[in-house]
Amino acid sequence: MKFFLDTANVNEIREAGKLGFLDGVTTNPTLIAKEKRRFDDAIREIREVCPGPVSAECVSESYDDLMAEARRLAKLARNVVVKVPLNKDGLKVVRALGSGEGIKFNVTLCFSANQALLAAKAGATYISPFIGRLDDAGHDGMQVIRDICLIYKNYSFATEVLTASIRHPLHVLDAAKAGSHVATMPFAVFDKLISHPLTDLGIVRFLEDYRKIPK
Ligand code: E4P
Repeated sequence: MKFFLDTANVNEIREAGKLGFLDGVTTNPTLIAKEKRRFDDAIREIREVCPGPVSAECVSESYDDLMAEARRLAKLARNVVVKVPLNKDGLKVVRALGSGEGIKFNVTLCFSANQALLAAKAGATYISPFIGRLDDAGHDGMQVIRDICLIYKNYSFATEVLTASIRHPLHVLDAAKAGSHVATMPFAVFDKLISHPLTDLGIVRFLEDYRKIPK
């Protein structure tokens, strides 16, 4: 399973990168707004610290504008993956530029397995189902991940399932069990994957006992 960081904060990306588990980064307008940076500057800086795929999101509202914006974002850097929303125009753009111009797309704001099926048929590189937001709305986000993984396997789609809107480590565990190719998570969740209170306690006890060994 690939680990992406869901952030536009360069310090967090550097920190995760040092651990050696960082495979990529996803951003969205909300995350970039938090950093108070210009959009293109933030993406350029992130791709300098993360050699893996970096998702940058389109905000255009018409097909023609989305086409132009997707082309522009794809030119920002070799490792930029263009995020488009899962609506009719978004899927049309993936169909037109994915195979035609080789642009990699992350189709975002996916909330159902049928939407994911359409994104795969359009030729998306990644599909991003938002499980935390589904859970928040009283649905079973993880069931959507299981359904998508099964459907993609049934038809050997190359599109990768990028589990998004992750809120806690159990989401990562369940997405891994379902066979999700990627999990994108906030730095806080990434950090929690490593820690366990019994590990910390074990280190303290072993150290105490080590001190008792005659030198
Ligand atoms: C994914 O690419 C999105 O940036 C993200 O996971 C959204 O998550 P949220 O529901 O925490 O905003």
